[in-house]
Amino acid sequence: MIVPGLSRVMFAPLATLLFLSLNCLAVVSAKIGTLHRRQYFYVGQSYVGQGNSSIADGQMYVEHLIPAKVSQPFPLMMIHGHDMTGTNFLNTPDGRTGWADYFLSKGYEVYLVDQPARGRSPYQRDIDGITSTNTTFIVESRFTAPERFKLWRQASLHTQWPGNGSMGDAVFDHFFASTTPSLESDITTAEKVKAAGSKLLDQIGPVILLVHSQSGQHGWLLGDARPSLIKGLISIEPKGPPFIEAVFSNTPSRKFGLTDIPVTYSPPITSAADLGPVAVSNDSFTCFQQRSPPRKLINLAQVPVLMVTSEASYHAVYDDCSVQFLQQAGVSVEHARLPDLGIHGNGHMMFMEKNNLQIAEDVLEKWISKTIHH
Ligand SMILES: *[C@@H]1O[C@H](CO)[C@@H](O)[C@H](O)[C@H]1NC(C)=O
Ligand SMILES: *[C@@H]1O[C@H](CO)[C@@H](O)[C@H](O)[C@H]1NC(C)=O
Ligand SMILES: *[C@@H]1O[C@H](CO)[C@@H](O)[C@H](O)[C@H]1NC(C)=O
Ligand SMILES: *[C@@H]1O[C@H](CO)[C@@H](O)[C@H](O)[C@H]1NC(C)=O
Repeated sequence: MIVPGLSRVMFAPLATLLFLSLNCLAVVSAKIGTLHRRQYFYVGQSYVGQGNSSIADGQMYVEHLIPAKVSQPFPLMMIHGHDMTGTNFLNTPDGRTGWADYFLSKGYEVYLVDQPARGRSPYQRDIDGITSTNTTFIVESRFTAPERFKLWRQASLHTQWPGNGSMGDAVFDHFFASTTPSLESDITTAEKVKAAGSKLLDQIGPVILLVHSQSGQHGWLLGDARPSLIKGLISIEPKGPPFIEAVFSNTPSRKFGLTDIPVTYSPPITSAADLGPVAVSNDSFTCFQQRSPPRKLINLAQVPVLMVTSEASYHAVYDDCSVQFLQQAGVSVEHARLPDLGIHGNGHMMFMEKNNLQIAEDVLEKWISKTIHH
């Protein structure tokens, strides 16, 4: 008789050997981390008529990780950025422990999502719009090996990526394999994440929300839509700066400040043009802010925010503008500039770089325990 559970155990060494010969990084990662239970579910789908039947669209994949002993009152919900999926926060591409495991080890439940139309969240070609994918050039020059391209001043300080950050290096190849096509429209993406994310918060909140890069925008939108369900917002190099692109182009963008779709201002706006924007310059950089007197982001202002910026990322150039914009709009934001805290050499993908756990412990967890109370 074959007992399914038993046969799996018996064959485990064989499977391990096969894996080892194919790919030793995967085996290393299988042996590290925090023991936990896992559950997945989908949230936010709607049925869309197709002929005389229906398909589902807009649903978001959610992975719920539960440590053996939950000792923290609020779970962490993490949303990845452009080109990425929830795998960002599992193990690192070189097989070390990621941020999800770190927080599990501290007694937090963790929710990881794949944004709608990406990864394990189904993409419906006829409804969701076109997708695009970043090339190795973009990924190497902006994220994994900026020190070789020096597209901005701080890039040469980058030292924390494991490996040389370029094609042919096993860690880079692993990471690049995990990148995925993303919807080209930031507006559609924002609408979809806001809709599914609000439903998820209604189901699991209150949470501590962690966002990165593209999902920086989603953090502001969810904080606006569900302020009482977000105890704290950790924003890792959120998409910015306000009102305009920077470093790689200077086209107008994010016409509602840090978002492409409306957020709640007080006094209310009738159109995005009511916000200004006006240029505020110093010797080295021009930020755009609201015209005076500034309106307040009254909902988001109820959520304490930690913004984290690394030393060598292109965000080091302009995240200060985003902080100033939020403060001007009445949002309580603390800015952790990693070099000021003695943490050097990181880039935009800090949660998978060599010192990822130091950042989690010395910056994120420290801020949570200082700021968020029951
Ligand atoms: C629905 O449409 C399909 C394809 O046109 C057809 O084969 C099927 O019989 C229809 N079903 C019903 C319940 O009308
Ligand atoms: C490439 O990545 C950047 C940064 O995440 C993003 O803003 C951009 O839209 C991406 N481009 C494509 C073509 O996917
Ligand atoms: C990175 O390392 C790989 C593997 O050793 C090598 O093939 C590649 O040429 C290196 N790239 C750079 C830019 O150093
Ligand atoms: C100029 O402004 C930028 C963006 O706000 C900021 O990062 C930088 O530190 C400022 N420079 C000086 C000299 O104040």
